[in-house]
Amino acid sequence: MSDPTTSELLAARPHLAMHAMDGLLLEGVPLAAIAREVGTPCWVYGVGTIRARYAALSRALAGLDAHLHYAVKANDHLAVLRVLGALGAGADVVSEGELLRARAAGIAAGRIVFSGVGKTERELRRALDEGIAQVNVESAEELAMLSGLATAAGRVASVALRVNPDIDAGTHPKITTGIAHNKFGIPLGEAAHLYRHAASLPGIAPVGIALHIGSQILAAAPYRAAFARAAELVRGLRAAGLAVGSVDCGGGLGIPYRDEIPVSPEAFAGAIRATLGGLGLRLLVEPGRWLVGPAGVLLASVILEKQGAARILVLDAAMNELIRPAMYDAWHGIVPVSAADAVRPVSPADVVGPVCESADTFARSRLLPPLAAKACVAILDAGAYGAVMSSTYNSRPLAAQVLVHGERWAVIRERQKPADLWAGEHIPPSLMQVE
Ligand code: LLP
Repeated sequence: MSDPTTSELLAARPHLAMHAMDGLLLEGVPLAAIAREVGTPCWVYGVGTIRARYAALSRALAGLDAHLHYAVKANDHLAVLRVLGALGAGADVVSEGELLRARAAGIAAGRIVFSGVGKTERELRRALDEGIAQVNVESAEELAMLSGLATAAGRVASVALRVNPDIDAGTHPKITTGIAHNKFGIPLGEAAHLYRHAASLPGIAPVGIALHIGSQILAAAPYRAAFARAAELVRGLRAAGLAVGSVDCGGGLGIPYRDEIPVSPEAFAGAIRATLGGLGLRLLVEPGRWLVGPAGVLLASVILEKQGAARILVLDAAMNELIRPAMYDAWHGIVPVSAADAVRPVSPADVVGPVCESADTFARSRLLPPLAAKACVAILDAGAYGAVMSSTYNSRPLAAQVLVHGERWAVIRERQKPADLWAGEHIPPSLMQVE
């Protein structure tokens, strides 16, 4: 199947448009102007798109006692957290850093849940001090640790047990989490016993169960299967006289990067309704990618085009900015920013970054027009798991980030300066002596 064309990619993304004079627009703002002023590589996120997606997901969940906890890992920028927090979202965090970021962005502790397979004592203590809503505990060992810490702090931790439902979400092996051999969660068969045990532990108040079966999930069936297992567990626990007030349904809603038809928010909500709907539960959902992925692009400029075994376009962005293609063989749309470029005849090109790794390849045999040096392209759907997964490999400074807000835009993270790359590094005095 051939790749979607530029016009097909844009037609499927209402927040993007090609203007005859101004070139590619994100929410009406010309990306060429941002690239010119801020330089490239540069991430650009649209507030309007994030808000619209939040509203769509909330609408789909209406009628359920459902609460959105944005998975901060997808894009942890304070401004993004601020936008979502202001809409009423809570946060799903997986580290002390994410917890403090969410708090710094104004998300109340009572709207924060803490997930993760290896929370440290320090992180759990911090979570207790902040008084967050819930800790999603992933093992008997963690439960014991939390009980000790809570007791010492004179607090009671609200706990959900994260179960591993042993459901294959049908997604990339590196981002599936709910199969028995994955490191996540408590085996379903042990959950009831551990829940009862939790109820007997000091400093622990078991409030519910949690699950998250993977990411970039495209079908409703794995959700339905996993939620059905969760419902069965809830019924079993209640029959045994234990109180279960909530189920955290996790995140994982996929988005179309190429031409995938993902599970709709309505189908996701339908899976919840059909399985957990009648149990009088408070329901939590933890979407990350779905809310912010489509809202962002990574702007890059062509450094040069070379002819190897194939036509090769070398960009100034690389795998250290967007690692998804290298890590998951992910497909991201690549669109010329200039309208004149966008209408010229296309031919296949490999699109690569300058990093010294063959994996530093954004696309192979991608149909693109001739692009001169300095021509700008937008790598699409880079709002989630983009900047957050960046590194400074090859001593490449972290790229700038920009937020489009109505007709305005603002730099929300300055491009890192080269000297910042070694800030905090020390050469031991013994090495400074002349030998
Ligand atoms: N909740 C938990 C417990 C999670 O582990 C995750 C993601 C989420 C929620 C949010 O999932 P989402 O709705 O964003 O799919 N770096 C990979 C994705 C890793 C996802 C890890 N966990 C990628 O770029 O595709």
